[in-house]
Amino acid sequence: MKVLVIGGGAREHALCRSLSLDPDVSALYCAPGNAGIAEVAELRPVDALDGGAVAALATELGAALVVVGPEAPLVAGVADAVRAAGIPVFGPSAEAAQLEGSKAFAKDVMAAAGVPTARSYVCTTPEEVDEALDAFGAPYVVKDDGLAAGKGVVVTEDLAAARAHALGCDRVVIEEYLDGPEVSLFAITDGVTVVPLQPAQDFKRALDGDQGPNTGGMGAYSPLPWADPKLVDEVMELVLQPTVDELRRRGTPFSGLLYAGLAITSRGTRVIEFNARFGDPETQVVLARLRTPLAGVLLGAATGTLDALPPLAWREDAAVTVVIASHNYPETPRTGDPIEGLAEVAAEDGPDAYVLHAGTRHEGDAVVSAGGRVLSVTATGSDLAQAREKAYKAVARIRLDGSQHRTDIAAKAAEGR
Ligand code: AMP
Ligand code: GLY
Repeated sequence: MKVLVIGGGAREHALCRSLSLDPDVSALYCAPGNAGIAEVAELRPVDALDGGAVAALATELGAALVVVGPEAPLVAGVADAVRAAGIPVFGPSAEAAQLEGSKAFAKDVMAAAGVPTARSYVCTTPEEVDEALDAFGAPYVVKDDGLAAGKGVVVTEDLAAARAHALGCDRVVIEEYLDGPEVSLFAITDGVTVVPLQPAQDFKRALDGDQGPNTGGMGAYSPLPWADPKLVDEVMELVLQPTVDELRRRGTPFSGLLYAGLAITSRGTRVIEFNARFGDPETQVVLARLRTPLAGVLLGAATGTLDALPPLAWREDAAVTVVIASHNYPETPRTGDPIEGLAEVAAEDGPDAYVLHAGTRHEGDAVVSAGGRVLSVTATGSDLAQAREKAYKAVARIRLDGSQHRTDIAAKAAEGR
């Protein structure tokens, strides 16, 4: 089958890498892609937010499946446009993608479905903001209602900072602080059947030791040796299946990838947020461990036939990914810097360690940085310690002026903490 992937980050590179290894995929296209994806897929230019343009491209290419990677096109209705053109698409409708597009909508769905989450207030006036901040106390959790590319959430002990963030949003969700480790659990669904993937952990803060500002994610690992082996079953029963059932009941079935961001608190597992697409960088480690060829799984979700899918097969291996970000990320990242060392990683560290591209582009023969998160260096090993060692060995070969990365990705978990 011919597959078209929409997007151009490290998540899409991971998706394209897996799809390129799938014998059922006869041709692979990515639009718009990036310099790394060009090595595994044929790139096409497109405005990823323009549903008509994406549908026309899929028709022109004769795609049997379109996979929409990022949230913005989903919220803009790109999956609806492709579906209307009669082409199977992996990704929810604009209405169902509101699960990610509006924090208030997600809270409403969770309340109706009985899904455990932080208690919260939706506020639109300064008075409501002050009441909600006062009701919960510090640490304050203040979330912009709409999509904000990972920058809409402020968690702070500082009341003035919490107020200032809230007053800068049109509509804001203020909620109870959830203590405890975070887990990302993805599920693939066709709107009825729900198939969970393996859990991963993401590192959201910019600096070692979970210091510094929130980012899109600086690294990830899977599996989680410290997690309860029953976690996936529990989240399926309490969170994933009830959420999918509730959206179907509302007449807006959710198909595609349902991402549950969870906090494992002393009082039980709670949903921090939902996303309507694969997480980045967690996808890099989850797909590194998936043995089942990917295209059939995504097509099953797109065509409502997931119930016929055999159980997913996983490698015993552990996977770690380390994000290399630009100078000054996440504030105002500098771009246009040359990236060196990519060929050395491919020659010396492959196939267990490899570089997935996020914000990169070709400039003549050179590959240069083109975004905040630039590369996601991924490795597998027999355990987390080995995967970590291989990933950091590859990271050390990459030269990008002013770049930054965390040195503690998966460190605690690898030491059994
Ligand atoms: P979100 O965009 O909702 O995932 O929030 C980004 C990050 O903010 C999460 O990964 C958490 O680290 C943190 N966060 C969000 N909500 C809460 C909460 N209720 N309690 C504690 N931390 C939170
Ligand atoms: N890793 C966080 C996200 O994809 O939103």
